[in-house]
Amino acid sequence: MPTNPAIAIDGPAGAGKSTLAKLLAEKLGFVYINTGAMYRAVALLWKEKGGDPAEIAKGLRFQIEGDRILVEGRDVTDVLYTPEISELSSRISANPEVRRALVALQRSFRERYPVVMEGRDIGTVVLPDAEVKFFITASPLERARRRKAQFNDPRPLQEIKEEIERRDRRDSSREASPLRRAPDALVVDTTDMGVRETLELLLEFVRKKLKNYNLIKK
Ligand code: DC
Repeated sequence: MPTNPAIAIDGPAGAGKSTLAKLLAEKLGFVYINTGAMYRAVALLWKEKGGDPAEIAKGLRFQIEGDRILVEGRDVTDVLYTPEISELSSRISANPEVRRALVALQRSFRERYPVVMEGRDIGTVVLPDAEVKFFITASPLERARRRKAQFNDPRPLQEIKEEIERRDRRDSSREASPLRRAPDALVVDTTDMGVRETLELLLEFVRKKLKNYNLIKK
């Protein structure tokens, strides 16, 4: 029986999950876990070393320190978010053995800390018993705009939008744990919403759901 409360945040690429998950974790004093970064880390090591991605996933040494992501002790934050690693991570995430290894790692965080965990299958597969579940979404065009601004992506907006739609299709149609909304998740469409407004909405829902926990109020 898990004792640490967990907040699961799922949704397609670029919907604002990371920003919201980080802010929620800060507000509540929970540990923020970015599971997409784990798939990206496996993709990066696989690109560098080759071999079996499942073996890489099983041995992954992954840490989040503030805004930085460390893999095998190396700060890889700046190389995880290139279009090449986005594409590779989406491909290797369809491998059931890679998923099995990373899901075990993800669950081990929840055993140790109260977490805000974001990804594609957190509310459905990784932490189906999470106390709070959100499904965050936004239109593909708005997601492309945000991605362009966030990463100073020089490519035309249309090209970024097409990449996002291609990843959406792959992430939603794969057999192993496709991107799906958990039936008990609150769906939030952030297309026309600012960060502050969305955060308030999420916090209100969290406070209701976790009223029996002594939440740190900031
Ligand atoms: O969230 P992100 O864009 O950084 O994720 C990178 C890729 O990893 C994405 O294409 C889908 C995959 N992913 C997944 O399959 N399951 C998760 N829990 C998180 C990410």
